[in-house]
Amino acid sequence: MNPLSSTCSIPVTGETPRHVAIIMDGNGRWATQRCLPRTAGHVRGVQAVRRAVEACGRRGVEYLTLFAFSSENWRRPAQEVTLLMRLFVRTLEKEVDKLIAQGVRLRIVGDLSAFDAKLQGLIREAEAKTAEQSALTLTIAANYGGRWDILQATRALLEAHPELQQHPELLDEAAISERLAMAYAPEPDLFIRTGGEQRISNFLIWQLAYTELYFTNCYWPDFGANEIEQAFIWYRQRERRFGRTSEQLHEAH
Ligand code: FPP
Repeated sequence: MNPLSSTCSIPVTGETPRHVAIIMDGNGRWATQRCLPRTAGHVRGVQAVRRAVEACGRRGVEYLTLFAFSSENWRRPAQEVTLLMRLFVRTLEKEVDKLIAQGVRLRIVGDLSAFDAKLQGLIREAEAKTAEQSALTLTIAANYGGRWDILQATRALLEAHPELQQHPELLDEAAISERLAMAYAPEPDLFIRTGGEQRISNFLIWQLAYTELYFTNCYWPDFGANEIEQAFIWYRQRERRFGRTSEQLHEAH
């Protein structure tokens, strides 16, 4: 058993975060401020997604993860949920070729069984079409929740290793990490939440244990290359210690 946290290697703090995870918040308020229906904010939000993908691609970010629809978002008015699903379908249909041209691999994580068959098919198709791309991996978290993720990983682990029920001491963090929906990516270096709230909201709760957390009042539809740059400047000034002392870190580098 490994008594250490699964985050046992210290990533080199580079100029640019390897993995950026974003909660895109503030679409509704952006629209309401302009006397528009909330859904108009989501439509504009898609443009901000494009800008974020381009800016991260230019800066050499390897993984960009966006929280598009949480497990809790089903509680919204039915009309808004329908619009979000349509937007998702339309965006997948329209953007895949552009993503390929930019070298972007698309992956969708979350409990996709809740989506209708057409959307599930489009998701699988878009993932397959971009599977060869390697410049940037864009992950869209859809019907995703961090607690759901830990639960599905634990279930999968127990199914594969029923002996763990008799020998729980054999269980370690790595075994769970390997079964999380985003096991293919390193843990996020930088988390960004737009829209002024300072919460994780059940996003990648396992993987954000050591991530630098950046909050901005900017509403998502207004978020663009300049705002990303501000977040990166802030990130560069952080000292990531992963439990060590400042002196230990300076000795190591
Ligand atoms: C939060 O704003 C945003 C969402 C729940 C949806 C995000 C979706 C998009 C940006 C468009 C679709 C994305 C893709 C990847 C195609 P909010 O409605 O909670 O805003 P509020 O807090 O101001 O009400």
